[in-house]
Amino acid sequence: MNYKQGMFKENSFFNQTIVITGGGSGLGKSMAKYLAKLGANVIITSRNFEKLQNTAEEIEAEIDKKIEPIACDVRDYEQVEKMITIANEKFGKIDALINNAAGNFISPTERLSANAFDTILDIVLKGTKNCTLALGKHWIKEKQQGTFLNIVTTYAWTGSAYVVPSACAKAGVLALTRSLAVEWAKYGIRMNAIAPGPFPTKGAWDRLLPGDLKEKFDLKNKIPLKRVGEHQELANLVAYLLSDFSAYINGEVITIDGGEWLQGAGEFNFLEQIPEEMWDMLEQMIRAKKK
Ligand code: HXC
Ligand code: NAP
Repeated sequence: MNYKQGMFKENSFFNQTIVITGGGSGLGKSMAKYLAKLGANVIITSRNFEKLQNTAEEIEAEIDKKIEPIACDVRDYEQVEKMITIANEKFGKIDALINNAAGNFISPTERLSANAFDTILDIVLKGTKNCTLALGKHWIKEKQQGTFLNIVTTYAWTGSAYVVPSACAKAGVLALTRSLAVEWAKYGIRMNAIAPGPFPTKGAWDRLLPGDLKEKFDLKNKIPLKRVGEHQELANLVAYLLSDFSAYINGEVITIDGGEWLQGAGEFNFLEQIPEEMWDMLEQMIRAKKK
């Protein structure tokens, strides 16, 4: 057993149709590859059709399973409805949708124009709302069951300086997750979220750690497990949350970050810096006070 390996049996997702927004690159691409490998009909969507086509071809060459690329800007409700119609016509039904598309960049908030702030809110929060509303309405009307999986971040609940529009948007997505998990459960629709810590992707690293920031702030150092995430371990969690093995998990956000956010939160976690040999002396000092 190894976290870099796939966790599910071959063909576990046979006859399942899964839409992944932002599926042409980064984590979405890794999810697409793994779910297709498990036999799912995978639809990848984003704004850049050429990129989607290249990704589809790359995955098809590797695992011999067709991937369906559909251009769709999640900010535009009509495009989202059209994408869902095409996917339904092609595969007869959609079983799951992963709200993975995102936009983000670091910036002091006072440097942002109103449009810059809106751009991130529109992709992340409005985009997730558009996909959820359009497909949710369709599932309810057709009496089909389905699963939504939303990709958020740990700063959805802690907040974070320098990525404030993203923090606001991801917090909204988390609220959507917990709200609809309850409201739509009666229709057989589940909704969960994953909060990944750092998983290297070009999209995120170019915008969050440009230039030599990668070297200056090696993210491994702020993670208790002293490593960044592997795409396969995230893909395993995605597969689990879309599978029937997680049928009783609803409205949950699962963190996969090596303990990163708790490292920043625990009041006395700074004591990690105390060298082993100092503990005898510290213990004596504490015990001495009892007298
Ligand atoms: C300040 C900026 C800016 C920057 C753009 N803008 N970049 N402002 N600093 N670095 C401003 C622009 O001037 C413009 O405002 C507005 O934002 C919209 O910019 P456009 O380039 O016109 O937008 P668009 O072409 O739609 O591109 C969206 C984008 C881009 C978000 C700006 O980066 C993108 O396409 N991103 C998609 C992929 C992505 O971001 N992946 C990373 C996800 S990582 P004005 O006022 O001039 O019109 C992630 C990880 C989270 O979410 C957690 C990690 C641990
Ligand atoms: P990425 O490769 O940049 O993925 C983002 C995707 O969103 C791109 O494929 C992009 O494609 C698509 N997208 C952007 N705007 C869109 C729009 N308006 N309509 C449709 N698609 C759009 O970055 P990533 O790191 O894999 O991020 C994937 C997800 O994981 C995001 O939700 C991100 O917030 C989350 N996340 C990542 C990390 C990490 O460490 N990597 C950590 C926590 C959370 P186009 O440009 O072609 O549209």
